[in-house]
Amino acid sequence: MRALRFGQHGGPDVVEMVELPVPVPGPGEVLLRVRAAALNPVDVGIVAIPLPFVPDLRLPAVPGWDVAGTVVAVGAAGNEITFGPGDEVFGLSRFPRLTDGTFAEYTTVPATDLARKPPELSWEQAGAVPLVGLTTLQAFEAIGAFDAVRGMTTGTRLLIEAAAGGVGHVAAQIAKAAGATVIGTASKPRHEFLRSIGVDVPIDYSTTSDVFAAAAPVHGALLSTSANAVKQAVRTVEPGGFVVSISPPITPEDAAIADERGVRHAAILVAADGAGMSRLADLISQGHLRAHVTRAYPLDRAVEAFEQVKSRRTVGKIVLTP
Ligand SMILES: NC(=O)c1ccc[n+]([C@@H]2O[C@H](COP(=O)([O-])OP(=O)(O)OC[C@H]3O[C@@H](n4cnc5c(N)ncnc54)[C@H](OP(=O)(O)O)[C@@H]3O)[C@@H](O)[C@H]2O)c1
Repeated sequence: MRALRFGQHGGPDVVEMVELPVPVPGPGEVLLRVRAAALNPVDVGIVAIPLPFVPDLRLPAVPGWDVAGTVVAVGAAGNEITFGPGDEVFGLSRFPRLTDGTFAEYTTVPATDLARKPPELSWEQAGAVPLVGLTTLQAFEAIGAFDAVRGMTTGTRLLIEAAAGGVGHVAAQIAKAAGATVIGTASKPRHEFLRSIGVDVPIDYSTTSDVFAAAAPVHGALLSTSANAVKQAVRTVEPGGFVVSISPPITPEDAAIADERGVRHAAILVAADGAGMSRLADLISQGHLRAHVTRAYPLDRAVEAFEQVKSRRTVGKIVLTP
């Protein structure tokens, strides 16, 4: 099969196309014919440096965690394998472990990391959902944002940083479906896109010195980009509200300020989760969530795709299609 592989850390051009044997699914795993696999900033990151949260990485390695594809074989029978050949599935494979990545024609995936692909999604859209969708669900769950008492209801004003990006555009739709008023930051040319995904209040971060002051009152914040936003958020989110960061971490000093003000806070790392994928599939089928795929690249143009994601100016998602 054709696959991408990197044998040393470095820029996007250390990723090369190689021929490898089709992998064999182990116990509890399925073999997928990959139809689409989104590229995330963490893929650029793991190619660049040995990330501390990716355990036991051995090079050369096939990168890629997101996947949508068709089951072609199942490993040794186990109760956890509820899929059979021909089933169309999607998921985040083994994250944060990287063995047998998804940027290839075939990949093995633990069955417990997968859910059935909603039929109304294209392959490209399905491959774009898992990492960003699970990140959103797990971030909101970690901070109790879906909690019926403390959670998002009509009138909750939620600020989403980088709302035009991969995580941001999915988080905006999920928050909207939960009843929040969504405030999203992006540069001005992205504001029409923000409105198209349901953002109520777009704010241009490049011309606004304190987006939290501009957005006040803010009851919750999902942060993904700047340390300065974390600093502003813990100081301005309403008491009783929350700050959840997927990047960067919340410093002990900022955490202490949040505690003092009665603002809940958390920083999370996403994890593979088949049950979470089923919840995302439900949101998709109910019409609440669509991944926006800006561009799909064939595997042999992966270096261009890596460069695009590395720029951190992507609207929605970039996908590879083997
Ligand atoms: N902890 C976790 O488990 C986890 C999971 C997923 C992602 N992450 C991290 O979260 C970050 C976001 O991921 P992603 O996939 O959403 O990235 P992405 O798709 O590459 O984000 C691109 C977007 O970021 C926007 N942007 C860039 N600088 C900005 C700024 N200063 N303020 C507001 N928006 C800005 C860009 O908008 P403009 O073009 O308008 O600038 C662009 O639309 C990454 O660092 C990623 O590694 C962490």
